[in-house]
Amino acid sequence: MPEPLLDIRALDAFYGDFQALFGISLAVPANSVVSFVGANGAGKSTLLKSIAGLMPAKADAITFDGEAIGDKPAYDVAKRGIALVPEGRRLFPSLSVEENLMIGGQLGRAGPWSLARVYELFPVLFERRNTSATALSGGQQQMCAIGRALMANPRLMMCDEISLGLAPIIVRDIYARLPQIAAAGITLVIVEQDVAQALKAADHVYCMQEGRIVLQGRTGDITRKAVSAAYFGV
Ligand SMILES: Nc1ncnc2c1ncn2[C@@H]1O[C@H](COP(=O)(O)OP(=O)(O)O)[C@@H](O)[C@H]1O
Ligand SMILES: [Mg+2]
Repeated sequence: MPEPLLDIRALDAFYGDFQALFGISLAVPANSVVSFVGANGAGKSTLLKSIAGLMPAKADAITFDGEAIGDKPAYDVAKRGIALVPEGRRLFPSLSVEENLMIGGQLGRAGPWSLARVYELFPVLFERRNTSATALSGGQQQMCAIGRALMANPRLMMCDEISLGLAPIIVRDIYARLPQIAAAGITLVIVEQDVAQALKAADHVYCMQEGRIVLQGRTGDITRKAVSAAYFGV
């Protein structure tokens, strides 16, 4: 077995006294697409925030490319090639599309992703490059948030609920771009409430419930019924 790109061992996470993650262990191979599903409050966003350096963790609870990063701050994690597309997009509202993308470029590493390449992936962002981020539709905002993450030239990109609040046709349109991103050599971690979408997009799926992984498997081996049962805790 090759060493995984991301290796998580016995990861806990706390908000004050409240424990949100309980001993999470998993491995994400390089060049794979992995999805996490689970109900509201299961701990999906907390897991992504922990990996991104936004939650305190033990150094050796998170290993990226062979190095312990659990105790590293977010800017350091970003420089190593981990980018988060956060829940709710979190664009800078007073800035234009292009300015938001440029900020992404300053956060990460040098590499092949540029404004031109992001505009090639999402042509509508080129059309709207001088528009303020708040004036975009929800789908365009999500594209801009993904583009901003790509500008950091990540090796691992984590997307938190891409489909939240978007019409199904827009969700399909955005998901249709993910294979191009994966083909560029970026490993993808996708958090999704839509089980069907998660199974379709990923090689491996993890179901979370109350801060724990309760079911996992290759998407070819695991049924939607089993995932749904784990999801709802029945
Ligand atoms: N900033 C916070 N302060 C306190 N508790 C939080 C905070 N964010 C999340 N939680 C709690 O942590 C648990 C996991 O939340 P979260 O990771 O956001 O779940 P998910 O993304 O799966 O919906 C929930 O019980 C939630 O209420
Ligand atoms: Mg969440």
